[in-house]
Amino acid sequence: TNDRINVAIDGPAGAGKSTVARLVAQKLSYIYVDTGAMYRAITWYMIREGIPAEDNLQVDQRVRDMVIELIPEPDVQKVLINGEDVTPHIRSLQVSGQVSQYSKIEGVRTRLSHLQRQMALRKGVVMDGRDIGTTVLPDAEVKIFMTASVEERALRRYKELKDAETVTLQQLECDIAARDRLDEGREISPLRRAEDAILLDTTHMDIHQAVEAIVSRCRSYVDGERNHL
Ligand code: CDP
Ligand code: CDP
Repeated sequence: TNDRINVAIDGPAGAGKSTVARLVAQKLSYIYVDTGAMYRAITWYMIREGIPAEDNLQVDQRVRDMVIELIPEPDVQKVLINGEDVTPHIRSLQVSGQVSQYSKIEGVRTRLSHLQRQMALRKGVVMDGRDIGTTVLPDAEVKIFMTASVEERALRRYKELKDAETVTLQQLECDIAARDRLDEGREISPLRRAEDAILLDTTHMDIHQAVEAIVSRCRSYVDGERNHL
């Protein structure tokens, strides 16, 4: 029998989604899909092509024509646009600062949600993002909404900064709060907890504890289903 399920993990920036989701996928031998990386890749590409987010029509058209590939690898998942590996560029502060403007565009969301659903068809996927439990995979067997205080999330991101990136903790906190507001406030599939998602506040949790909480939820789901047969 096929016991595999899909796991949706949503929440704001710095909550620990991608770190935890990757480890959960490893433990379950599932595939991890980082949907934020896809929105970041499109954002980086549009910036380089000189297409501003305000030019919705142009963005829509370019997104429709582009080839987007996701290559899952053990530590980093690669994103290719028209065959070009854009992964090294997508975590910059410039991309973080603009990604919410591009990700609210309808054509961008339609294209990416479609791709994401296709990747989850065969089950055994842990997918993280903003709208996975509500829109992309509303039938996911386990849904988690992961949060942490904005102070804690900013601190986590601060610790990740590279030497060349000069930004204060206060500025990071402002940037993250602004991005949360844009993601929560947009019209199409905003950041929101699905009604049936489990709330996981990681403010005082380490990575290991968060991973265990999700893995045990998945195991008890699968065991419960098996007992019904
Ligand atoms: O890693 P971090 O939490 O900073 O962000 P991310 O997961 O890489 O996502 C970057 C941005 O992409 C978010 O702020 C959203 O604007 C957008 N996004 C989205 O709209 N829907 C998703 N499913 C994932 C990301
Ligand atoms: O994907 P998301 O933006 O939700 O968060 P992340 O990129 O997985 O985590 C942001 C940073 O917080 C990473 O450097 C993690 O190692 C760290 N983290 C932590 O210190 N404690 C946790 N419980 C979760 C993540």
